[in-house]
Amino acid sequence: PERTLVLVKPDGVRRGLSGEILRRIEAKGYTLTAVELKNATPDVLAQHYAEHEGKPFYAPLVEFMLSGPVLAVVAEGQGVIAGFRSLAGATDPTAAAPGTIRGDLGRDWGLKVQQNLVHGSDSPESAEREIGLWFPQP
Ligand code: GTP
Ligand code: MG
Repeated sequence: PERTLVLVKPDGVRRGLSGEILRRIEAKGYTLTAVELKNATPDVLAQHYAEHEGKPFYAPLVEFMLSGPVLAVVAEGQGVIAGFRSLAGATDPTAAAPGTIRGDLGRDWGLKVQQNLVHGSDSPESAEREIGLWFPQP
C-alpha cells in the first residue's frame, strides 16, 4: 500500500498535540506502521529540506526543526500521500481551512519561523526518500 512520512514538528510536540494528530490520521482510516520520537540532525534536515536550500526561510526553518524533538511517523493506506496533505491543510495555518490540522490547531506563522505543526510528503518519490531518511534500514 501507499506510504507517507509525517512529522509532528517541534511546535506540535511541545504543545502536546502529538496524540491529537495521530488520532486524526487513524480516524481517517490510515494505518500507523512506525512512530518514533527523534531529535533531528543538521544532516538529516539538509537532505529533508534540500529543495528549499537557498530560500530566505531555509535557515530559520532548520533552526526551528532543531529546537526540540519531532515525532516521525509512517502512515499507510490508499491515497495517503494526498489524503494526509488534505488533513494537514494549507501550509500557512492562518489560511488553512477549519477542519484541518493546521486550520484547527495552528497559529499565525509569526515574524520569524513558520510553525505549522506537521510535515507530510508531497509525492511517492518524496515519501520513499523521506522514509529512508527518517527510518534508515541497517
Ligand atoms: P511540509 O509538509 O512541511 O513540507 O509543508 P508544505 O509542503 O506545505 O510546505 P513546503 O514544502 O513548501 O515548505 C516546507 C516548510 O517550510 C513549510 O511547512 C514551512 O514550515 C516552511 N515554509 C514554506 N514556505 C515558507 C515561506 O514562504 N516562509 C517561511 N518563513 N517558511 C516557509
Ligand atoms: Mg513540503
